Amino acid sequence: MAVMMHRPEPPNSAARRSRLVVNLLGAFFAIQLLLFIAFRSPPPTRAAPAAATDSSAVLVPPPSRGAEDPSGCGGGRVYVYDLPAVFNEDLLSLCDALAPWYSLCPYLANDGLGFPVEGSTGLSSILPDELLGSWYSSDQFALEHILHRRLLSHRCRTTDPARATAFFVPFYAGLAVGRHLWAANATDADRDRDCVALLSWLHAQPYYKRSSGWDHFLALGRITWDFRRGPEGGWGGSFLTMPGVANVTRFVIERDLEDAMDVGIPYPTGFHPRAAADMRAWQRHVSGFPRPKLFAFAGEPRSAIKGDFRAVLLKECQAAGAACGAMDCAEGKCVKKTELVQQLFMGARFCLQPRGDSYTRRSIFDCMVAGAVPVFFWRQTAYSSQYDWYLPADDGQEREWSVFIDPHELRAGNLTVRGVLAAIPEARVRQMRERVVEMVPRLVYAAADKDGLGSGMKDAVDVMVDGMLRRAAEQRRNWRT
Ligand SMILES: *[C@@H]1O[C@H](CO)[C@@H](O)[C@H](O)[C@H]1NC(C)=O
Ligand SMILES: *[C@@H]1O[C@H](CO)[C@@H](O)[C@H](O)[C@H]1NC(C)=O
Ligand SMILES: *[C@@H]1O[C@H](CO)[C@@H](O)[C@H](O)[C@H]1NC(C)=O
Repeated sequence: MAVMMHRPEPPNSAARRSRLVVNLLGAFFAIQLLLFIAFRSPPPTRAAPAAATDSSAVLVPPPSRGAEDPSGCGGGRVYVYDLPAVFNEDLLSLCDALAPWYSLCPYLANDGLGFPVEGSTGLSSILPDELLGSWYSSDQFALEHILHRRLLSHRCRTTDPARATAFFVPFYAGLAVGRHLWAANATDADRDRDCVALLSWLHAQPYYKRSSGWDHFLALGRITWDFRRGPEGGWGGSFLTMPGVANVTRFVIERDLEDAMDVGIPYPTGFHPRAAADMRAWQRHVSGFPRPKLFAFAGEPRSAIKGDFRAVLLKECQAAGAACGAMDCAEGKCVKKTELVQQLFMGARFCLQPRGDSYTRRSIFDCMVAGAVPVFFWRQTAYSSQYDWYLPADDGQEREWSVFIDPHELRAGNLTVRGVLAAIPEARVRQMRERVVEMVPRLVYAAADKDGLGSGMKDAVDVMVDGMLRRAAEQRRNWRT
C-alpha cells in the first residue's frame, strides 16, 4: 500500500520498476507487520500522538449537522498564509522536472486544473456543448494547487489573521516530496528537506505558537503513505512522522485510518463546473445517459505481483462478455486519455474499484462523477472513515450508493462479479444511481471563485472549509485552558 505508482513511465524501465515494486512492497509489508505486532496492545488509538484528549470528537463528520448559516461561514473565517515561494510557486516552475516520466506542466496549467479538453475527440462526442468548458485534463496529484487557488478566493477567507478561526498552510508537500520519490540518486534527506524547512518557518509564526498548530491545516496531493517513512527507512518522505506536524490537520487523498489528523478528501477529477447550473446540467446528463454495460473496469494488471487482484477482475470482465467494458491502463493510457475512462464509466451501471498499489484510487471519483455505482472489495477503499466527510458509510449508509464484494469469495469462485451485480433489481440500481448523482457536487472541485458553485450548492472545498472551521473550534480545548 505504500508504493503508489499511479504513474505511467517508459516501457524500458518497467521491468526495473516491477522489481522495485516487489522489493518495496515486501519491505513495506514486513515493516507494517512488525509495527502492527509491536503496537498491537493496547490497540492503536485514533488520537494524534500529542493529543491526550478524547479523540472521538475530532472524527465527527462535520457535514449536514444542524442548520447552516446561508453565507456558509458561520463557523468563522480561514486565513491563508503567504508562504515563501520556495514552498509552493517555485515548485510549480519546476513542473518539467517534478515527475520522472513526463512533464507535469500542462496538467498544472490553469491554476492546477490542467488544460481544457474542449474540442478533444472523446469527450466532445458524449458531452453537451455547454458542459465542454467544465472539463480539464486534471492531474490526480494537483490537489495542493487546486485548493490553494480556491481558498485564496473563498468567501470564508479573511486576510486578517486576528479574525481567523482556521489557518491554511499552502505548502505543496506532494510536489516537494514527489519529485524525489523516483530519482535514483535522491536521499532521505532530499525527500525531507522542504518539509523540515517548512516546519521551522511555521513554528516561528505567532498564530501557530498560539495554538501549537491545532487550528492549522494543510493539503496533501499524494497519498499519506508517501509521507510516512519510518525510522527504519523505506518508502517516501517522513513529513507526517515528524513531531512538528503532529497537531496540524491534513486533507489528503488517502488517509491513514489510524491517524485522526488525516482527513480524506476526494482525488481531483477532470470535472470542474463553473456554477450550480453546470452541475445540474451534468447531473441531468448522466442520469439519463444510456448505460448498455452492466459493469466497467479500468486498471492495469501488475504481472509482477503474483495473484494480482486486478488481473482477477479483468478475467471477470472478459467472462462477462458484452456485459462488461474494460480498459487496460498499461503504459499510462488511462492517465493520458482520461476522457476515454470517463466515457467507459458513463456507459456502465457499475464500475469496479479494487485496491491498487494503495487502498484508494482516483477512479472511484471518476466513476461516481460519471454516475456509475462503485463496487468495492476492501472496506478501507471508501468506507472505514476513509472519506467520511464526503462518502457516508456509517450504519450501512454505504449500501445506498455502493456495492461491496468479498474478494475472498470471488477468488474462491463462490460468486462472480456479474452474478452479484445482475442479481440487483433494476429499480434498486436506479435508486443507487440517483443517490450517487446526488453526491457528485461534494466530490468535485469547482472552477468557480468567490461564491463557489453558488445557489447553496457545496463542492469538495466548501465541505472542507465548513468542516475545518468546526474542527478548529472543537480543537480549541486542546490549547486553551
Ligand atoms: C540526481 O541526478 C540528476 C541527473 O543525473 C541531477 O540533475 C540531480 O542534481 C541529482 N540530484 C541529486 C540530489 O544529487
Ligand atoms: C502539540 O500540542 C501539544 C498540546 O497542546 C503541545 O504540547 C505540543 O508542543 C504541540 N506540538 C507542536 C509541534 O506544536
Ligand atoms: C465458499 O463457499 C464454501 C461452501 O459454501 C464455503 O465453505 C467457503 O468458506 C466459501 N469461501 C469463502 C472464501 O467464503
